Amino acid sequence: MQRTFFLCLLVASSLSLLPKARPPVDQRKFTSNVVEDLIAQYQEKMQDEDLATLFSNCFPNTLDTTVDYFNDSQPFPTSFVITGDITAMWLRDSMNQLMPYVGLMKSDVRLQKLFLGAIHTQAYFINLDPYANAFNFNATQVESRDDQVKPTPPPLVHESKYELDSLVSFLKLSRVYFEQTGDDSYFKSSQWIDAIRTVIRTCRLQQRGTLEALGDEDYLFSRQTTTSTETLFSGGLSTPVRRCGLVKSAFRPSDDATLFPYLVPANAMLTVELMNVAKIIRTLDNETELYKDCVLLAKEVRLAIEEHAIVNHPVYGQIIAYEVNGFGGYNVMDDANVPSLLALPYMEYMKKDDPLYLRTREFVLSNYNPYFFNGSAAAGVGGPHVGINYVWPMSLIIKAMTTDDKAEISQVLDTLKDTTADTGFMHESFNVNDPTQFTRPWFAWVNGLYGQLILQLATEHPDLIFKQ
Ligand SMILES: *[C@@H]1O[C@H](CO)[C@@H](O)[C@H](O)[C@H]1NC(C)=O
Ligand SMILES: *[C@@H]1O[C@H](CO)[C@@H](O)[C@H](O)[C@H]1NC(C)=O
Ligand SMILES: *[C@@H]1O[C@H](CO)[C@@H](O)[C@H](O)[C@H]1NC(C)=O
Ligand SMILES: *[C@@H]1O[C@H](CO)[C@@H](O)[C@H](O)[C@H]1NC(C)=O
Repeated sequence: MQRTFFLCLLVASSLSLLPKARPPVDQRKFTSNVVEDLIAQYQEKMQDEDLATLFSNCFPNTLDTTVDYFNDSQPFPTSFVITGDITAMWLRDSMNQLMPYVGLMKSDVRLQKLFLGAIHTQAYFINLDPYANAFNFNATQVESRDDQVKPTPPPLVHESKYELDSLVSFLKLSRVYFEQTGDDSYFKSSQWIDAIRTVIRTCRLQQRGTLEALGDEDYLFSRQTTTSTETLFSGGLSTPVRRCGLVKSAFRPSDDATLFPYLVPANAMLTVELMNVAKIIRTLDNETELYKDCVLLAKEVRLAIEEHAIVNHPVYGQIIAYEVNGFGGYNVMDDANVPSLLALPYMEYMKKDDPLYLRTREFVLSNYNPYFFNGSAAAGVGGPHVGINYVWPMSLIIKAMTTDDKAEISQVLDTLKDTTADTGFMHESFNVNDPTQFTRPWFAWVNGLYGQLILQLATEHPDLIFKQ
């Protein structure tokens, strides 16, 4: 009996089941020889055929399917990168969608221009409306929605959810480009400088407490809906906060409303990327004041996290809260979407082995996190956006990226390849007891993130994925 069982397992694990599922060459939106070479190389080197197939499907997915517009025009290119399921460009998603190719842009001028085009487009959007999370390609693509929003969004806005990490995504995209290329031609432009000033000004306004800003709010949002996370408390004000140095975010990276607007992971990402972008600004002439503004805000936010966001949990001790309100109130949980608590080392806010991170991580991956689900097919983090018992592959990938425990990483790789419902792609979420029930067949951001995981393992733990 036991022996037969063992044999069956062997057979099952040696079969390659996942389909190669890239669109035909003539239907791909953007092609890069460097990307193709890397995929070919990894098909040869990787031990596990399914993980290799997943890599070849997922890694190029943004380029294959979501680069809706690219114009290599002078003096600066323009790129419009849609999420995939919706033909609008999210600031956060588009940054994340491009991130897998960061290390390749030096060897491919067109890829480099694709990045610069996205930075250029994002700067234009942010100057237009710093409170929007997503934009349309042109003003004719109007969505009929009855949102009550202040300030009134310009026609190009696709959705007016103010999410702090949207602004921070622009900072991150700018700095990775500068780190890779040293090209500051666009960063000298008044458009980019204005966008940075807009980010700082918006953050400064969004540090204000509720009473302090009352009657003079910069941002209000309410929507007619039966889904409570799609609108804000108190006629669009959000729940009350008291100034404490943190910056508010009306919505989370899941596009769900925050419970308490001082969203800690978004603030952690803000402090990291303000310091990074300050390094670009320091190299520019005549921008000493802007440089100081970035560093000052970054330091203020970091201090505020230390003073207001580290809380005492009855089981896990001192951990970082997901959201706080500055009155001493806090919400302990984590959501799969990055920025998250689980992703803090990925976001370069703290080290993987920091004891505060390790305690927070243990909490996030336990049943004390209301959005941690453990079922027969997987255990991992989800969130209120899809709901109970739906685990997000994004959280599984981040779990593997934030540990050096080989057994933990291998387990995530096994789960990822077993839960694509034979599509060969990452989904938004799947039922923890039945992966054939999933949301979003098309999630370019997390497809790319799987690619990033494999690239990271190629450097840090090649023995886990490559043939001897
Ligand atoms: C590219 O941009 C230039 C300058 O804005 C414009 O004249 C040209 O028509 C654009 N090309 C395409 C293919 O959209
Ligand atoms: C406006 O955007 C829509 C949707 O992306 C597209 O179908 C249409 O051709 C665009 N119009 C112009 C004038 O570019
Ligand atoms: C520096 O900035 C000041 C104030 O904005 C401006 O008046 C001056 O012309 C700038 N100098 C240079 C060299 O750009
Ligand atoms: C999930 O539940 C199983 C069965 O109760 C348990 O053995 C396992 O440790 C749990 N996994 C996690 C990550 O909590």
